[in-house]
Amino acid sequence: SQLHASLTQTTFIAVKPDGVNRRLVGKIIQRFEEKGFQLVAMKMIQPPRELVEEHYAEHKGKGFYNGLVDYLCGGPVVAMQWKGKGVIARSRAMMGATKDAAPGTIRGDFSIEVGRNLVHGSDCAEAAEREIKLWFGEDKINYEDACEKWIYE
Ligand code: PPS
Repeated sequence: SQLHASLTQTTFIAVKPDGVNRRLVGKIIQRFEEKGFQLVAMKMIQPPRELVEEHYAEHKGKGFYNGLVDYLCGGPVVAMQWKGKGVIARSRAMMGATKDAAPGTIRGDFSIEVGRNLVHGSDCAEAAEREIKLWFGEDKINYEDACEKWIYE
């Protein structure tokens, strides 16, 4: 299925500067932890403009592009890698849609405008690989997930 429900994946998720400044980092992390996903890498950075421009390269030229880059560069970002079965699509479902995110999702519960939507998550496996490389390079640790047998059948 589109979810790759049984496929173990790693995705890139970022708490944007509004999430950091609004003290929502813990709450956002907690949602993914409670679901059963595994945090495998995390760092807080003030991203350089070139990094953000590269991250959103596919949107260059769109009306919202410059505002979006300004927004991401406007404060610290918490960059993370999360691992789990179907984590790419499932974490995006938990974040909520770009426009009018449903209640119960992170954006639906905590944000109003698309240009202040708190979180980013890779939208496919290719994007996840590209974004992880861009934000982390090879910087990643592997550790045994002792919890796995209580989360997966
Ligand atoms: S598109 O054009 O359909 O590909 O755009 P979309 O996939 O919906 O969004 C791409 C990213 O741009 C952000 N976005 C915006 N930011 C600011 N203002 C406006 N109007 C706007 N529209 C879209 C959107 O949140 C996506 O960024 P991420 O970080 O992936 O959420």
